[in-house]
Amino acid sequence: MSALEGSLRPAIARGLRLQYESAQGRHVLLYPEGMVQMNQVAAAILERCDGVRTLDAIVQELETLSGETNLAPDIHGFIGAALAQRWLEGEGGMRLELPERAAVSPVAAGSPAARPLGLPLWLLLEVTYRCPLHCVFCYNPTEFARTAEELSTAAWRRVLREARALGAVQLGLSGGEPLARADLEELVAEAHGLGFYINLITSGVGMTEARMRALKAAGLDHIQLSFQDSSREMNDFLSSTRTFELKSRVAGWIRAHGYPMVLNVVLHRHNIEHVAEILAMAERLGAEYVELANTQYYGWAWLNRAELLPSRAQLEHAERVTQEFRARVGNRTRVYFVVPDYFEKRPKPCMNGLGSVFLAIAPDGTAMPCHAARMLPNLALPNVEHAGLREIWYESAAFNRFRGEGWMKEPCASCPERGRDFGGCRCQAYLLTGDPDNADPVCELSPHHHLVSEAVARAEAAVAGGAPRAREHALIFRDHRTSIPVTTTADAIIAK
Ligand code: SF4
Ligand code: FES
Repeated sequence: MSALEGSLRPAIARGLRLQYESAQGRHVLLYPEGMVQMNQVAAAILERCDGVRTLDAIVQELETLSGETNLAPDIHGFIGAALAQRWLEGEGGMRLELPERAAVSPVAAGSPAARPLGLPLWLLLEVTYRCPLHCVFCYNPTEFARTAEELSTAAWRRVLREARALGAVQLGLSGGEPLARADLEELVAEAHGLGFYINLITSGVGMTEARMRALKAAGLDHIQLSFQDSSREMNDFLSSTRTFELKSRVAGWIRAHGYPMVLNVVLHRHNIEHVAEILAMAERLGAEYVELANTQYYGWAWLNRAELLPSRAQLEHAERVTQEFRARVGNRTRVYFVVPDYFEKRPKPCMNGLGSVFLAIAPDGTAMPCHAARMLPNLALPNVEHAGLREIWYESAAFNRFRGEGWMKEPCASCPERGRDFGGCRCQAYLLTGDPDNADPVCELSPHHHLVSEAVARAEAAVAGGAPRAREHALIFRDHRTSIPVTTTADAIIAK
């Protein structure tokens, strides 16, 4: 029995978009970094949820169209479920809530060997490594200063066209700081014209109200704004810039221009005890969604791991504070808490398996099955300047390297969980063990799991041994001068 009123005028929630994807042969509902595939009936209902038609009118229209009667219970049921999922909002101000970011992929999991080769649905363009910030946890390669020139506007536009022709639909624009590209508006306009759902991942530095207006006019769908901490002092210290006030202004413009207010804060030992203040700041800024993402240890974060990894007590405290906040604030500000995988027993299904749905392009045109893949050994990464995206995705050795199960070693090769987590993260396996074919050492079944538990034990000792800020002098800030080749040998890892 539905409790919905026939006079309700449902509409697709702000920030979401329904569109037909010919590459998938169906309608999809798009939201930042994800999508829901719709069958024909669901799409027919959602297409009519325009905020003008009433629920009664939608039922009547679909009954006339199909020649069937008594469709009301099914349609009411579907719309009720869609409202609960926050795909729809109803007249009277039901608020947008973004679906929680799950896997980047809507493709069903299963044995990687059995999975048909998917489309590169999720395209990440790292349009520049330039960035006015110097974050100690940046995932960009530590040797970024040595990479070649950035692609031209024309080359990026060609990449967008080729990716869309391959079926890519989600587009992330990141960096570095993507606003450092003066042609960002032009790239957004091209992507919008092609039908991408476009998410800008930014520190806010480089944004002005005029640029915000221009990006909106060009068709930007969504903005994710990062903060380093809740206070000016710590935000500015951790980014090695004076940007706190600017970010607060940008947050205001995001709201003023009708975007959902989405904040991202990377957590680590030096700010994880400020989660209550960070959430209070998010509430003050009117955030609808906050991602508290514990640091993932690649790039600069890897160099700084010994100084950034929190203790279990710090982590548990942060989780408790987050739960209390959720209980108090409810759906007004939704919080997504990403646990650091060093504290897990099983690894994350990183990238849903390399070469499955994710395609990243570095500023110099290097195409990668994962944004950190540049570090992986003997992976001849292709470049969009020398090959088409179709060839890169389907035929290049780099993108085929970790497809299927052939590359897996024991214990993954015979593990019943390999179809769920694909052996975890290849980059983490390489950084920790020196071999990307190994099981991700986060996994308790990995013979290298001790490398993770020892790092956690060292973090426990460091936190217990003094105030978290006692060793800040040891942090290495992301900078052209300190940009050095990443060290990956097991010896160096243990030395940390
Ligand atoms: Fe996953 Fe490999 Fe661990 Fe099995 S052994 S749970 S496949 S990482
Ligand atoms: Fe590269 Fe996980 S970050 S595979």
